[in-house]
Amino acid sequence: MDRTGLLHLIRSEGYNLHWHPRVGWTGFKETKGNFMTRIVCLTATFALIVISLGSCTKNSSEPKKNAQQLTVGFSQIGAESGWRTAETKSIRSEAEKRGVDLKFSDAQQKQENQIKALGAFIAQNVDAIILAPVVETGWEPVLKKAHQRGIPVILVDRGVKVTNDDLYTTLIASDFVAEGRMAGDWLAAKTGGKANIVELQGTPGAAPAIDRKKGFEQAIAKHPEMKITKSQTGEFTRAKGKEVMEAFLKSGGEIDAVYAHNDDMALGAIQAIEEAGKKPGVDIFVVSIDGVKPAFESMVEGKLNCTVECNPLLGPAAFDAVERAVAGQKLPKNTVVQDKLFDQSTAKDVIDSRQY
Ligand code: AHR
Repeated sequence: MDRTGLLHLIRSEGYNLHWHPRVGWTGFKETKGNFMTRIVCLTATFALIVISLGSCTKNSSEPKKNAQQLTVGFSQIGAESGWRTAETKSIRSEAEKRGVDLKFSDAQQKQENQIKALGAFIAQNVDAIILAPVVETGWEPVLKKAHQRGIPVILVDRGVKVTNDDLYTTLIASDFVAEGRMAGDWLAAKTGGKANIVELQGTPGAAPAIDRKKGFEQAIAKHPEMKITKSQTGEFTRAKGKEVMEAFLKSGGEIDAVYAHNDDMALGAIQAIEEAGKKPGVDIFVVSIDGVKPAFESMVEGKLNCTVECNPLLGPAAFDAVERAVAGQKLPKNTVVQDKLFDQSTAKDVIDSRQY
C-alpha cells in the first residue's frame, strides 16, 4: 500500500492525522473503530512516519543512483584568480561529461553567501555538495545540517576547522604548507640564504594563506639572514597584489624578493616593480604559487622567477568522490594533490603542455 492508500484507509475509518513539520505524520485522533481497526491504523501511521522521514533524509536503503541521476550543489568561492577560474571550469565540465545536474553558486568571496548556498542545497535535498570553503572556520552549523540529512560534503581545494571531522566526507587538496616550503627553499638556494623579503598574503583566514605562510617561514627559518620585512594581504587578486606592492616599494627599505601566495598577486607585483623602474626577476626576485599559464609566460619573459604548481583540475577527483560517497563507499579523509616547482630553467619546455 502506498502513502495515498494509507491516508485513505485511516481517514475512511474516521481518524484525523496530524502533520508535524519536523517529524511528518505523527498521530491521529480516534473517533470510531474497533480494536482491530486501531491496530491497522497504528501500523499505517507508523508506516507513514517512515515514509515521511524517508523523504527528508538520505536513506541507505534508497535505490542507488548512477551519475546521470545525481543532483550536486557546488559552492564556489568566486573568481578572484586564474586558478579559481580553472577549478570552476574543471568541475563544471566534469559534471557535464558525467551527466550530473550541477547547481552552481558563486559566493563572491563571502562566507555568508556560501553558507546560504549550502542551506539552499540542503533544502533541495541534493545528492551531494561540493564545497570550496573561502575560510577555515565557521562551518560547523551548516555542515551539521548536511550531516543530519545524510548529504555527503566533498571539500575541494581548501580545508575547514571543525571539532568533528565526520561533518565532511573527504577533502581533496594540495599540501599548502609544503608549497610554501618549496618556494622558500628555492629562494634560499637562489639568494644564498640572504634576502629581505616582502610577502603578499592570500585571503585572511583562508587555508592556503595560513599554510603557505607557515611553510615559507619554516623554510627561511634555517637561514638567519632571510627575513620577511613586510607582509600584507593582496587577497589573491592581481589588482590588490599590485596595489600592495606599490605601497611596499614607496615605503622605502631594501627589497630583494617578493613572495606571493599566488600567481595573480605576483603578476600584479611585477607590474608595480616595472612601473617603479626596476626589473622584476633581476633587481627583485619574484616567487609564487599556482602555476597558471600567465605565470609561465612571465617566467619565459624572465620576470617571474619561479612558481609552485597547485593543480586546480579537481573535477574528475571530486566527482569520483561524489559517486563513491553516494554509493555508500568509504572514502579516505584526505587526498593530497601532488605539486611541483617550475622555474625559468624549465618554463619554456613545458609552457605548451600547460592545461590551465
Ligand atoms: O585555494 C587555492 C588558492 O585560491 C589559489 O592559490 C589561488 O589562486 C586561489 O584564489
